[in-house]
Amino acid sequence: MKEWYDSIKKAQSVDKLEEIRVAIFGKKGVLAAEFARMKSASDEEKAQIAKDLNTHKSSLMNELTARKIVLQTLELQEKMQAEAIDVSLYSTTSQAGGLHPVMETMDRIVEYFSAMNFAVKTGNMVEDDFNNFEALNLPKYHPARDMQDTFYFKDEMLLRTHTSPVQIRTMMSTKPPIRMIAPGAVFRRDYDLTHTPMFHQVEGLLVDEEGKVSFANLKYILEDFLKYMFGDVEVRFRPSFFPFTEPSAEVDISCVFCKGKGCRVCSKTGWLEVLGCGIVDPNVFEAVKYENVSGYAFGLGVERFAMLIHQIGDLRALFEGDIKLLEQFQ
Ligand code: DAH
Repeated sequence: MKEWYDSIKKAQSVDKLEEIRVAIFGKKGVLAAEFARMKSASDEEKAQIAKDLNTHKSSLMNELTARKIVLQTLELQEKMQAEAIDVSLYSTTSQAGGLHPVMETMDRIVEYFSAMNFAVKTGNMVEDDFNNFEALNLPKYHPARDMQDTFYFKDEMLLRTHTSPVQIRTMMSTKPPIRMIAPGAVFRRDYDLTHTPMFHQVEGLLVDEEGKVSFANLKYILEDFLKYMFGDVEVRFRPSFFPFTEPSAEVDISCVFCKGKGCRVCSKTGWLEVLGCGIVDPNVFEAVKYENVSGYAFGLGVERFAMLIHQIGDLRALFEGDIKLLEQFQ
């Protein structure tokens, strides 16, 4: 029996120990064989042999259990050492984040106008009816309000439908002259291929003494700005209507996809509409109690710019947080 005690002590792995356990305690193991041999002994001998064998049986079992605990602990330590992570090592596969294309585009727009000395104003996303509509020459029941349905709260409060109310807030709190842009989120009750309930605009306003600000000034800066954003494009102004400007214009650039030849994106016209602008309507100045001034204003959608710059087909893709799409802009 001594050799079995030795083999338990010498076992170097849990697996080896299991083999030894089977060899001792298994159906065909040594103990079973010893007990079988006992049958041929005399009755007195039988009692003694059985006693001895049972003693060995329980002490061998104790030895096995004790050795198993030791081996398991050793194996666990070895495994932990082998799999240890050195957290002080530099990683070679770190992933860089990137600006969202809308924010990147917004930054570029702000960069241009900041360089042109326009101050950046932000205003409030929850606006009142006066700033969002009334003061912008959009009286209650004016049909142009239809184009800007939004989300309403109590007491004539609403989610702003454009960043134009920042014009009003700035003029109400500052004396002219004014040169400002208002970048920010706006909200409308819209959802399709080219509209999302939340999107971003940049509004611009310049006000100076009466007679000092002309449509020519507006045309110059917008042409320069659009070439900064889109490169070598043609720019054209089309007469249009906005309640807060008179005269008003919409501005088109030659299609960035087909270079003006006509394609699906520009509906075969060769032109893409990119912003609205005009000379500030006297009613707006009256609402903010400005006298003897003239000014121009403009407004644009940042998502539209981002889509045209990066040639993204579906506006909603910009808001789905799809890593595959966003990774391209790192
Ligand atoms: N607020 C207009 C809109 O959301 C955009 C706009 C057009 C702003 C012309 C202006 C402007 O200041 O002159 O549709």
